[in-house]
Amino acid sequence: MKKNILLCVTGGIACYKAASLTSKLIQSDYSVKVIMTESAMNFVSPLTFQALSRNEVYTDTFIENNPEVIAHIDLADWADLCLVAPATANMIGKLANGLADDMVSTTLLATTAPVWIAPAMNVHMYDHPAVQKNINTLYQFGHRFIEPGEGYLACGYVGKGRLEEPETIAELIHQHFSEPAQPLKGKNVLITAGPTKERIDPVRFLTNHSSGKMGYALAEEAAKMGGNVTLISGPSTLPSPLGVKVIFVESAAQMYDQVLHHFPKADIVIKSAAVADYRPKHVSQQKLKKKDGNLTLELERTKDILLELGKRKKQQFLVGFAAETENIEEHALSKLNRKNADMIIANDITAEGAGFAADTNIVTIFQKKHPPKTLPLLSKSETARKIMEEIIQNMVGES
Ligand code: CTP
Repeated sequence: MKKNILLCVTGGIACYKAASLTSKLIQSDYSVKVIMTESAMNFVSPLTFQALSRNEVYTDTFIENNPEVIAHIDLADWADLCLVAPATANMIGKLANGLADDMVSTTLLATTAPVWIAPAMNVHMYDHPAVQKNINTLYQFGHRFIEPGEGYLACGYVGKGRLEEPETIAELIHQHFSEPAQPLKGKNVLITAGPTKERIDPVRFLTNHSSGKMGYALAEEAAKMGGNVTLISGPSTLPSPLGVKVIFVESAAQMYDQVLHHFPKADIVIKSAAVADYRPKHVSQQKLKKKDGNLTLELERTKDILLELGKRKKQQFLVGFAAETENIEEHALSKLNRKNADMIIANDITAEGAGFAADTNIVTIFQKKHPPKTLPLLSKSETARKIMEEIIQNMVGES
């Protein structure tokens, strides 16, 4: 069955590339319908897209050529994928704020299909905090971005802001619709996620801000790639990822036991849980009653699970996480060596778009034999996919 691509063209000089993209998609047997904004029509005529897509081009929410349907709803329902290319700063701003004052923004508000956005603009506009904030918001809605490339910009600047090449965009669309590869088929993947809870007394405990989102996203991606995935999760309210065996634990000690139990059969182990480093030395069986003066809670170290796994490691590809607030590289490299891990995924939890509760993340991948690789701001699922791809590549490299 032909897939339906709704191409939304907004006003920038890169509109000419959207014409070439339309042609490529038609040649690859997609059905393409195009919506243009008024500004886009200053660059390329709707007739160009009509001829290339062999479909009516939509430019105005209130022009209803077919009385049997409402055009923007009909298009929103028709699409298997919506792509905004080029996406201007203005359209990104509208979409991030739920505005619907033209055919593109109105239709995209009405669709349940995946929305991809390929920005193109001047490098300073792209870097502006307002634009970055809007991009971040759209990531959180689950929209996917096709990052602009670096190079000569029509405004004369050289920098980030060029619309990605039509060939690359078309290739990403093919990948999206093709059967997912199953590079982890037959592999056992063990992932930990979430915080741990260390009891003080029957009503109180110590914990941290981890939401579990990164670990759950990793489990989901690893399962999509065909892995037999076991997720050992601290307390979390997230839904269990499809096709993943989830084991819930509470404390660092319980997590230690479960991880060690599953470790011997694992091929890949990813320790994304934020495990408590300390727990109360004495857990009171009765609720602690307040008294005058200060209370001193004596804490003792928990066992470092990753460190232990590093010692026992055989066939396992071992991945640790490092949530840092400063000197990221130094701390990550020290963890890589100290814990005998094959990879450390580090993030600066103080950075905008990174951190515990966010739906996005910015991580740097550290490995012993490779230079660090920093991924751009991505949704946690996309970050997870890229991390899994990196792991697979390096496992193959090692064997
Ligand atoms: N980790 C673990 N067991 C623990 C503590 C941490 O397995 N008891 C794992 C985490 O899952 C993560 C990595 O170790 O993969 C984080 O390293 P860690 O040194 O604990 O990080 P921090 O607690 O941030 O360390 P530091 O106090 O040195 O900053």
